[in-house]
Amino acid sequence: MAQNWTPSSWRNKPIQQVPDYPDAAALAATEAVLSTYPPLVFAGEARRLKSALANVAEGNAFLLQGGDCAESFLEHGADNIRDFFRAFLQMAVVLTFGAQLPVVKVGRIAGQFAKPRSAPMETQNGVSLPSYRGDIVNGIEFTPEARIPSPERQLDAYRQSAATLNLLRAFAMGGYANLENVHKWMLGFVKDSPQGERYRKLADRISETMDFMKAIGITSENNPSLRETDFFTSHEALLLGYEEALTRVDSTSGDWYATSGHMIWIGDRTRQLDHAHVEYFRGIKNPIGLKCGPSLTPDNLIELIDVLNPTNEAGRLTLICRFGHDKVADSLPKLIRGVEREGRKVVWSCDPMHGNTITLNSYKTRPFERILSEVESFFQIHRAEGTHPGGIHIEMTGKDVTECTGGARAVTAEDLQDRYHTHCDPRLNADQALELAFLLAERMKGGRDEKRMAASA
Ligand code: TRP
Ligand code: MN
Repeated sequence: MAQNWTPSSWRNKPIQQVPDYPDAAALAATEAVLSTYPPLVFAGEARRLKSALANVAEGNAFLLQGGDCAESFLEHGADNIRDFFRAFLQMAVVLTFGAQLPVVKVGRIAGQFAKPRSAPMETQNGVSLPSYRGDIVNGIEFTPEARIPSPERQLDAYRQSAATLNLLRAFAMGGYANLENVHKWMLGFVKDSPQGERYRKLADRISETMDFMKAIGITSENNPSLRETDFFTSHEALLLGYEEALTRVDSTSGDWYATSGHMIWIGDRTRQLDHAHVEYFRGIKNPIGLKCGPSLTPDNLIELIDVLNPTNEAGRLTLICRFGHDKVADSLPKLIRGVEREGRKVVWSCDPMHGNTITLNSYKTRPFERILSEVESFFQIHRAEGTHPGGIHIEMTGKDVTECTGGARAVTAEDLQDRYHTHCDPRLNADQALELAFLLAERMKGGRDEKRMAASA
C-alpha cells in the first residue's frame, strides 16, 4: 500500500481549483453523510477495467472514452442517457468491426460534474460573481444565489450518478446492447446523413455475420458476449472532498478504491507533483488518467509516473493527450520518447477536443477539421515512433446539437446559435462522433495492415 497515505492525506497539501464554500461545517456534514452511502461501483469492476486497459497498453485493444464535458442536473433524463449510449454503441461497433480490435468502452458519465475554471470570478456588465464550477458545486445561472457553492449539490450529484449508472447497466447487460440490435441504435437525425448511410452498410454486414454464426449454432442466447457489453464510467476527480467520502476499502484485497466511478482522471490544471490531487490519486488502486497538455515536460511526466504508477502496472495509467492540432507534433513525440526510454507501460489516448477550442460569434466552439487533424497527427506520430495509438477521449452527445463547427453535414458559425446546449465545452453531435469513428477505424486498420505486411515481408 502507498506509504503515509490515507483517503484524507491530500488535505495537508497545496490544492488548486477549490470552491469557496461559505459554511465549512455544512460541507463537513454533507461529506459525513456521503461517506455512509453505498459505493457507486465495485473494486472488482475497476480491476476488470484495469486489465482491459492493460490489453490496450500492450497494443491489443483500443480505448473509447467519451461523454459530456459536464453533466447537468437539468438535462438528467432517460432520453439523454439512451441517446448518448446509442451514439456510443454505434461508435464502438464501427471501431470493433472496422479495426478488428476489442474496444474498451468508458463513458464520461455518471459522475462528470465538477469543472476546473481559468478564473475564480466571472464578470458580466460590471457585476462579479464566483465562476460556475459544475452542478456538483454551484448553479450556472448568473445570480449571487446560484453561484454560491452549496454542499447539498454533492448529494444530488451522487443520486444522479446512481440513477444514470443503473440505467447504463441495464442497457449494457439487459439486451439493448445485443449485436442483433445493431440497426436499432441509429438515431433519428443521423438516419439521412452520409454517416447514417455508411453505418447502415456496416450494420448489414454485421447482421449477415450474425446470421451465419446462428446457422452454425453461435447465438446471443448461448453466447453472452454477443448480447452484453462491459461499459465503464469515468470522470475528472476534481472535488476531492466528494471523492474522499466515496473512497472505500475493498474487502477482498484490503486496497483502497475510489467508488465514485470506475476510472478517474487528474486534470491538466491540477497535476502538480506535490499537490493534493496527485496525493489522492497515488493511494487508490483504480485505473487512472492523467491529462497531458503542452506545458508538461518529459521529466515532469516521468516524475508523475514514478508517483502514480511506481510498480509499472500495465492498465493503471492512461495518458490523455490534449495538445491542440498545431502543437501535437511538437509536444507528443518527446513525451513518447521519454516514456519509452524509461520503459513505462502506459495507454496513450488522444483528447482532440481541449486543445482546439476557439471563439466564433461569441460561442466557444471547436472546428471539426482541427479535431480530425489532431487525431491524424496522433496516429502518424505513434506510427513513426512504433508505439500504439491506444485510444480516444472525446466530448460528445447523442443529441443533434450545434456546438462544434464542420463535419459532413457542416455546422457553420451561423448555425451555432440554433442548438447550443452545453453547460461547459462544445461537444460533437452524434453525426460528427460517428464520422470520427469511421476515420479512426480506417487509421487503425491501416496501421494493422502495415504491421502485417512488414511481418510477412
Ligand atoms: N461483447 C462484445 C463487446 O463488448 C461484443 C458486443 C456486444 C458489442 N454488444 C456490442 C460491441 C455493442 C460493440 C457494441 O465488444
Ligand atoms: Mn471540457
